[in-house]
Amino acid sequence: MQPGPSKPELGETSRLDQPGSPAGPGATGGVSAADLSGTNPGGSRSGQDPKEKSRSGTNIDTFIGKLVVDQGLATSEEVQHCLEQARTQIEDRSSLSLAELLVSNEYITARQADRLKRMAEAERSGQQIPGYKLLEPLGQGAMAKVYKARQLSLDRLVAIKILPRRLSQSVQFIERFYQEGRAAAQLNHPNIVQAYDVGKAGEFHYFVMEYVDGRTVYDDIVKHKRYAESEAVYIVMQIAEALQHAHDKGLIHRDVKPKNVMITREGVAKLADMGLARAMSDKEAAEAEAGKAFGTPYYISPEQIRGEVKIGPPADIYSLGATLYHMVTGSVPFDGKSPSDVMHKHLRADLVAPDHVNPKLSAGISEVIEMMMAKDPKRRYANCKDLLVDLRALREKKAPPIAHKDFAGNDLAQLAKAEAAAPGVIVEQAEAPARKVSMSLFVVMVVLLFLSIVVNGVLLLRGA
Ligand SMILES: Nc1ncnc2c1ncn2[C@@H]1O[C@H](COP(=O)(O)OP(=O)(O)O)[C@@H](O)[C@H]1O
Ligand SMILES: [Mg+2]
Repeated sequence: MQPGPSKPELGETSRLDQPGSPAGPGATGGVSAADLSGTNPGGSRSGQDPKEKSRSGTNIDTFIGKLVVDQGLATSEEVQHCLEQARTQIEDRSSLSLAELLVSNEYITARQADRLKRMAEAERSGQQIPGYKLLEPLGQGAMAKVYKARQLSLDRLVAIKILPRRLSQSVQFIERFYQEGRAAAQLNHPNIVQAYDVGKAGEFHYFVMEYVDGRTVYDDIVKHKRYAESEAVYIVMQIAEALQHAHDKGLIHRDVKPKNVMITREGVAKLADMGLARAMSDKEAAEAEAGKAFGTPYYISPEQIRGEVKIGPPADIYSLGATLYHMVTGSVPFDGKSPSDVMHKHLRADLVAPDHVNPKLSAGISEVIEMMMAKDPKRRYANCKDLLVDLRALREKKAPPIAHKDFAGNDLAQLAKAEAAAPGVIVEQAEAPARKVSMSLFVVMVVLLFLSIVVNGVLLLRGA
């Protein structure tokens, strides 16, 4: 069961790479490793002056010279011109780098130069992956950095997550990283970012996945604050489908959040980053982590905060509920001064109903979110199949049957509880009007009796 970093396996998804071309790291190694490292510079650099290499920082310049031409930002003649200037600089001891010279000549922008410098740095520090050509950084997560890259064998764009050096040395982290690869490889669904490959190049461990040309829900929230109800429901429905597929395979995502929901240009939602996913049956791994809270505080489930060993589908449903809350209200469900403050609120604080934060929301979506985010996992939807029943109802502008029943059930249960807690009060309230009625009847009877005595007396006196 030891996830051996030296022998990565990616089941089904690795096989996807097989037809048509000998894929995987190594198969095309010669092409890209040399290409990326700059040892095989290619046509554009053939005229580079060997003296260039004698300058300090020339390795970076070598990379930049190649990158700038490869990416079509400048022509090889323009690079050549700057290299000439650099050579003159050596003689007069000034020290503008190639990137700076490209900017000062207005061949590229300062921003492009920054990006090129960062990429060249990354490559120089050893982040070269045989079979892939790194193109540009896509983002930085809590655990790793993600790059856009080209898989040379299949000539397709991919996203590569690369562990930083500091984590590449941690056995615990490497194990989790490979676990992520294996877990993701078991999944194959249009709403899940597909895993392609996992491996190690030099000191770095990496994970290759489908490149999503689009944005994250987080990006949308930052830009537009919140989603229209129907649009949010449509996205969350797709993620619920993705989770249902994962849960059916015994996998819990454990890190559902706006940054892990990607939207393609065509509007398809895809669940990314099975970074903390773990096989439900993997009790040992869960126990090893027991007591430690994992996940992002704004969307984490109470049971994950408590470090419970048995984390099931309701944990993902809670996080998806918190994500939906943020999408439709524009605010996170619980905020605080510190992560522990936020986590404390997930455990104890009452949720402000979504339709109180945004009065435009339907009562139905509020009921659904409140059920998704119930503190007790047993009070949430038991699975995504049930959740989807309610989400589909919301799509059709109908009341969500499961959450609504639970809501009504809650009201009845509350009434019964109140009666049980204070029977005296309720009985007294019920008795009071009856007593008033009998009192009035008694008065009427006395009056009638009195009248009949008087009338009878009068009649007797007349008769006499
Ligand atoms: N498959 C992908 N395709 C395109 N961009 C991606 C992909 N995976 C991740 N990204 C980008 O990289 C960023 C960092 O990803 P990640 O390491 O998973 O951290 P986080 O999920 O915390 O943001 C994401 O926010 C996203 O913008
Ligand atoms: Mg992610």
